[in-house]
Amino acid sequence: MFKIIHAQFLAPGIKRFVIEAPRIARKQKPGQFVILRIYEEGERIPVTIENSDPVKGTINIVVQSAGKTTHLLNMLETGDSILDVVGPLGKPSEIRNFGTVVVVGGGVGTAMAYPTAAALKDAGNRVISIVGARNKELVILEKEMRAVSDALLITTDDGSYADKGFVTDKLRQLIENGTRIDLVVAVGPIVMMKAVSALTRKENIHTVVSLNPIMIDGTGMCGGCRVLIDGKSEFACVDGPEFDAHKVNFEVLVQRNAMYRDSERQSMEEFQAREQSASVEPMSRKIGETWGTPSGHATQGEQR
Ligand code: NAD
Ligand code: FES
Repeated sequence: MFKIIHAQFLAPGIKRFVIEAPRIARKQKPGQFVILRIYEEGERIPVTIENSDPVKGTINIVVQSAGKTTHLLNMLETGDSILDVVGPLGKPSEIRNFGTVVVVGGGVGTAMAYPTAAALKDAGNRVISIVGARNKELVILEKEMRAVSDALLITTDDGSYADKGFVTDKLRQLIENGTRIDLVVAVGPIVMMKAVSALTRKENIHTVVSLNPIMIDGTGMCGGCRVLIDGKSEFACVDGPEFDAHKVNFEVLVQRNAMYRDSERQSMEEFQAREQSASVEPMSRKIGETWGTPSGHATQGEQR
């Protein structure tokens, strides 16, 4: 069992957990993730590691409520425990001095972009970060991103904070202004990474995206996380999650991630109906008993 030392909402539906996991904290590098399970029959979900403290033996994960499991996870509080946390998984981000790097974080993807931005800054890069969210309330890690960036540009889709627009509008402006860009790192929804990739391909700017396909075992055995890179199958959990954006087949990724959408929707509806009728104990105490899952598959990068 992995104890939750601290749990706190960063934004509506987005929660940060500080978890006691000394072995993972010692080994974790930017770009890696964990797969966790909150009860015995529960599905395994890949989750972003936002930070780790090897001295205290803790990792920070950031979870967005998107399906049943992430809703259940976000009901956990300080002092509760998570059944299994496996990791760190995936290859770390390539960190070296590239020159000027633009780090793009879309929504909760910002949590994954943050440790990479911090490491790139430490490696001597000029880091320009772009953070986008649907609205003001959903902008996360602004202070943290600012601290590791030479410049931080923020957009909101509805204009309720900073500049109205998408992250790609800021990236386009940088390109049009003639800013020298040696690398772009983008983490966020697939549509965003695809749009960033389309923009930088035209300019021949090397671009890396962190992919979030369905994951199950996280060890390269199940094939669940297969992605098509330059026409060849690769496994995001062991060969990635970061790939050269210009080689990624985003259409196949979208299709594969939609495979379980109906069962996920059904599972979420059942969860909500049962949640409304539950009246005895706080649900975070009854997770295993109350919310067994028939499928056991990991929801599509529900979080990551
Ligand atoms: P969101 O839908 O609110 O989008 C975040 C931002 O992305 C927007 O504010 C906008 O600036 C940009 N964006 C969205 N659509 C765009 C488009 N068509 N063109 C250009 N830019 C666009 O994001 P969310 O609700 O926080 O969802 C986060 C998603 O990121 C989830 O699907 C989650 O699975 C995924 N995620 C991915 C990773 C990863 O490793 N790739 C990590 C964490 C989360
Ligand atoms: Fe099973 Fe990657 S999650 S092969």
